[in-house]
Amino acid sequence: MIAQKKKVYLETYGCQMNVSDSELVLGLLNKEGYDITNSIEEADVVMVNTCSVRENAEQRVYGRLGEFKALKNKNPEIVVGVLGCMAERLRDKLTDEKAKGVGQIVDVIIGPDEYRKVPELVNKAWHGEKGIAVRLSRVETYDDLEPLRTEGISAWITVMRGCDKFCTFCVVPFTRGRERSRTLTSIVHEVELLSARGFKEVTLLGQNVNSYRDGEYDFADLMRSVAEVDSSIRVRFTTSHPQDMSDKLIKTIASYPNICKFIHLPFQSGSSRVLEAMNRTYDREHYMRLVKKIKRTIPDVCLSTDIIAGFPTETEDDHRQTLSVLNEIRFDGAFMFKYSPREHTPAFTMVDDVPEEVKSRRVTEIVELQKAISLEKNREMLGKTVEILVEGESKKSSLEWHGRTDGNKMVVFPKGDFSIGDYVTVTIVRANSATLFGEAHSYGEEIPEELLAAVA
Ligand code: 5AD
Ligand code: SF4
Repeated sequence: MIAQKKKVYLETYGCQMNVSDSELVLGLLNKEGYDITNSIEEADVVMVNTCSVRENAEQRVYGRLGEFKALKNKNPEIVVGVLGCMAERLRDKLTDEKAKGVGQIVDVIIGPDEYRKVPELVNKAWHGEKGIAVRLSRVETYDDLEPLRTEGISAWITVMRGCDKFCTFCVVPFTRGRERSRTLTSIVHEVELLSARGFKEVTLLGQNVNSYRDGEYDFADLMRSVAEVDSSIRVRFTTSHPQDMSDKLIKTIASYPNICKFIHLPFQSGSSRVLEAMNRTYDREHYMRLVKKIKRTIPDVCLSTDIIAGFPTETEDDHRQTLSVLNEIRFDGAFMFKYSPREHTPAFTMVDDVPEEVKSRRVTEIVELQKAISLEKNREMLGKTVEILVEGESKKSSLEWHGRTDGNKMVVFPKGDFSIGDYVTVTIVRANSATLFGEAHSYGEEIPEELLAAVA
């Protein structure tokens, strides 16, 4: 009888870096002889890759682990693993049998710099041995590992790991350790392989991607080298810090047609006083000047940002300054959060003095304003013709595709004869604040009069 291969189910929370890390882990387990499954019911190994950036992200994982407990009760053989930032931050709690009861069911706990040990620790867990590996590394970049990529169009490529910025609210420098970069040559080689496999988009990832450095090469050099591999591959990157957004990088983005004209540039707060307390290393004026320069150099650029509402000491005036940055810059999109105190961060020792209901009201005001701006900006797209990379079926209809513009706007349009991975020219005919809707046509084809009339 042939022994059945064991099956692994891995659920991912948090940032894109975690998505990319999960692909690394699945690659390692696959090589070790495990099959990957999307169905938790048939899994022998059940894992979560976790996020610690805000309290509610951790609560969701605790909730999920509670559900895994029922699975484990039914089948005690199952190996349960916790990976990622929570493994790093909460190692003691996760092994404590009393803490929310999850200690009893977690078999392996593995932090972001110890993924090479996943197969070994999971193998040992079959023999009842609990495993923990949470050491942070100054050098680990997983440069030589092959991630398991399940779709063939768009690839995440982690180019640097860790963060040295120490924003006072952020747990990342503690859960992911110091900055380190992969070599430029290995990244370019990976893109060459992806090009040969027919990939159409790569996103270079790092907690602080534009502080990438490999000897004499900086992030602009890396972007240029990656863009030159294959002009039919779109190049994106995330997430960047204003301090490392060099003129050279802005010019590089402007000068390569296949580098997407989209920049995610978190500003966090519109108040220079709060920015200082956050240790963001720039003030409001610096950020505004930087965005002006970006818009001047890359005229059709799309921008998105991150904002925190209710950081300690934030006043109504500080909050209004955040709203005014939104009005002045008019971002295409934003991720907006209530401040969440994180143990061990410098801000944790400040008094969390903005009451919960004030935080909620402020974040709602920010969200509402940004929604209105996103809608206005999306309406400006009506009648325009854009190039979309088809990424998959629309969530709402099997008759439609979804894909994104160069500026990262989601577009839904009828499938026609197009396939996933095609670049399609689409005229935008309808818009809401999150999505554009369009009609596709082939290159060189004239846009029908009635279509334009419909949007006029
Ligand atoms: N509370 C709220 N938001 C946070 N972020 C990071 N740490 C916290 C925190 N303690 C947000 C920042 C960052 C994004 C990834 O998450 O806006 O840019
Ligand atoms: Fe956290 Fe700041 Fe580093 Fe971003 S730059 S990961 S917010 S410490």
